[in-house]
Amino acid sequence: MDFTLSEEQLMIQQAARDFANNELLPGVIERDDAQKFPFELVRKMGELGFMGMMVNEKYNGSGLDTLSYVLAMEELSKIDASASVMVSVNNSLVCWGLQAFGTEAQKEKYLTRLSTGEVIGAFCLSEPEAGSDATSQKTTAIDHGDHYILNGTKNWITNGGSAEVFLVIAQTHAEKGHKGINVLIVEKGMEGFEVGPKENKLGIRGSDTHSLNFNDVKVPKENRIGEDGFGFTFAMKTLAGGRIGIAAQALGIAAGAYELALKYSKVRKTFGTEIANHQAIAFKLADMHTKIQAARNLVYQAACDKDAGKDYTLSGAMAKLYASEVAMETTIEAVQIHGGNGYVKDYHVERLMRDAKITQIYEGTSEIQKIVISRSVLKD
Ligand code: CAA
Repeated sequence: MDFTLSEEQLMIQQAARDFANNELLPGVIERDDAQKFPFELVRKMGELGFMGMMVNEKYNGSGLDTLSYVLAMEELSKIDASASVMVSVNNSLVCWGLQAFGTEAQKEKYLTRLSTGEVIGAFCLSEPEAGSDATSQKTTAIDHGDHYILNGTKNWITNGGSAEVFLVIAQTHAEKGHKGINVLIVEKGMEGFEVGPKENKLGIRGSDTHSLNFNDVKVPKENRIGEDGFGFTFAMKTLAGGRIGIAAQALGIAAGAYELALKYSKVRKTFGTEIANHQAIAFKLADMHTKIQAARNLVYQAACDKDAGKDYTLSGAMAKLYASEVAMETTIEAVQIHGGNGYVKDYHVERLMRDAKITQIYEGTSEIQKIVISRSVLKD
């Protein structure tokens, strides 16, 4: 196993680091406070190629591998996890899904604009009663010959208020269970499609999370991705890759908090010396560093599995499970090392701690990752 990065991968990593420090850092506290979605920053990330990283150049993407994407996600997430979740959803759930399974016409019409950040995408699977239990879709897409009529509600949709292209999972043939589910491309502004109120969240407050309502929305059949009944497989295959992106986000949050804590421990003095000289603090840093490196190995391994064309469902789930646990533990410790200052917004670690929590929930909770992992382990 050799994770030596190529010249190109090192360049991507540096470009993401520079962008995060120069463009995301200023204003990150204010955006978090005001729950402000940074349209201008998304446009800039699009110009730099971060919105369609794994998309073929033919469709205006950057044509990069998954490891490059993971490196960029890690750097962006060290500074601003709200920005990085938009990048993650657009890249792994929307662009990747369209590139892998869309028709040529769908790619021309939607992917070419999603991969430049000209428009943003959203992935709409979760419902009030279908979060973890994703096969229990209540949203319906009834077949009317050349179009579907879509009805239902989706919840907790990242980019919900700012996206223009929505991949909506819905039940067409209830009697067939998950084999009767479809995925449709819905555009903002289609009659009967309403964006619900914005959620007031604990973390990733700069990202835009809404419920969505579909009331007799007429969606042309050419907007269905894949064969009739392919929707649930589409969601599972897409989420398997999405989980690598969220694992990289968790890794970045953990590494960002660790770097701040390390720096602080070398300047903050108590009892006549820098706190890093107290074993209680030094041992915390040792634990944090070790766990972050272990998480990084799992995340890079999952990305390399995907790039090598191997099955990455198991490695992606393990990476997400572990990296999100490390993000939570590490950010709590980073706040502790900062003491009273850690509880204050100016020092960034309390925000990273709040942001870390969602990585154990979205794109499959830790408990769902354990279902995926245990089923894989037991089948051998
Ligand atoms: N690739 C391809 N197919 C897969 C698959 C995969 N990785 N995983 C499952 N499937 C297939 C199965 O093979 C099965 O098909 P067959 O019947 O033809 O064999 C079908 O999907 C159903 O699978 P299960 O029988 O395993 O279904 P289940 O109900 O027992 O559980 C689950 C499946 C893994 C728990 C699934 O429901 C799941 O992943 N739940 C979590 C959903 C989730 O991650 N939601 C996140 C919302 S999106 C989000 O957060 C985005 C955001 O905005 C940040």
